[in-house]
Amino acid sequence: MEEKGTVLRTENLKAYYSFRAFGIDRNIKALDDVTFKIYEKEIFGIAGESGCGKSTLIKVLYGLIKSPLRHIGGDVVYKINGEEKSIFSFDKEALRRLRWNFMSYIPQGSMNILNPTIRIRKQFLDIIKAHRDVVNVDEAEDIAVEHIKSLGLPLEVLKSYPHQLSGGMRQRVTIALATVLKPRVIFGDEPTTALDVVVQRGVIQLLKDIQKELNNTVIMVTHDMAVHAELTDRIGIMYAGKMVEVAPTSEIFKAPLHPYTQYLINSLPKIGDKSEKTSVPGSPPSLSNPPSGCRFHPRCPYAEQICKEKEPSFEELKPGHFVACFIAKRGVENA
Ligand SMILES: Nc1ncnc2c1ncn2[C@@H]1O[C@H](COP(=O)(O)OP(=O)(O)O)[C@@H](O)[C@H]1O
Ligand code: SF4
Ligand SMILES: [Mg+2]
Repeated sequence: MEEKGTVLRTENLKAYYSFRAFGIDRNIKALDDVTFKIYEKEIFGIAGESGCGKSTLIKVLYGLIKSPLRHIGGDVVYKINGEEKSIFSFDKEALRRLRWNFMSYIPQGSMNILNPTIRIRKQFLDIIKAHRDVVNVDEAEDIAVEHIKSLGLPLEVLKSYPHQLSGGMRQRVTIALATVLKPRVIFGDEPTTALDVVVQRGVIQLLKDIQKELNNTVIMVTHDMAVHAELTDRIGIMYAGKMVEVAPTSEIFKAPLHPYTQYLINSLPKIGDKSEKTSVPGSPPSLSNPPSGCRFHPRCPYAEQICKEKEPSFEELKPGHFVACFIAKRGVENA
């Protein structure tokens, strides 16, 4: 198989929300020592329960760090035109130039990022003019029209105000807007979550089509494993501010190695299966005072003494399959 290029990698990335509440300094360890990489031209999914740090991860990857979020340590390294660059080496202006052109971001709840008082056409033109050296409005208009057409969306949307569109169409327009300058990397934070299943399918297909057309990288956050199954090539599973498993999507579904991932997969409804599903017992831990050792240990049915005392390292246990778990490691080694 062709060696895949890496477009983005993190190294021991740490970012905390730090603030004072009721006279006490609090640190929410939303990202704590996260190391993984994302390949060019793949759809990479990020999964995990609500509050595990998915949105924070996307924000940090996109260079959107503002108080109370703080970068505590580690790095985010992009490959841009063959050169490795830390996101933290860019100043505001350099980040501005990267955004929309090299990378774009569809934030959580993004159906509402369209300005309700401005027609869609003008919102496209404003973005194109702000981020591309276009000579005149016609040129910007051509870019918008060509893009809308290539995505199979009706050109009439350009004349509309956001509220005149259905929720599903608004989400498609948001995605079209985020991708109009053909970025190499697209981040989507739960872009299908607020939609009903039928509309969701259309949005998933649109994301797939865009990835195919632009031949670029899509990084998709959703807690919905069914969406991951349909859309992604690889998945990273997060738990309590950590990446606990990364593997090709088929491996995650067929042979998950981390006990937390096993719960996520086993709790999915399967067609025709009437047996009771075991969702993950207990609730996610506090990220201001996370459990010692393996953060999953209070909820893990396999936990042993070592799990309470030491933190398992994130290791490639099988080719391309990374896991942070003592027992999974022992299992693979003894197999
Ligand atoms: N602005 C904020 N201030 C303080 N804590 C925050 C803020 N945003 C998120 N958090 C906390 O950071 C943790 C990770 O949140 P988030 O990245 O939004 O998780 P997810 O997207 O997986 O649901 C949660 O404990 C959340 O409460
Ligand atoms: S390291 Fe221990 S507690 Fe953590 S997931 Fe593995 S078995 Fe469970
Ligand atoms: Mg989120």
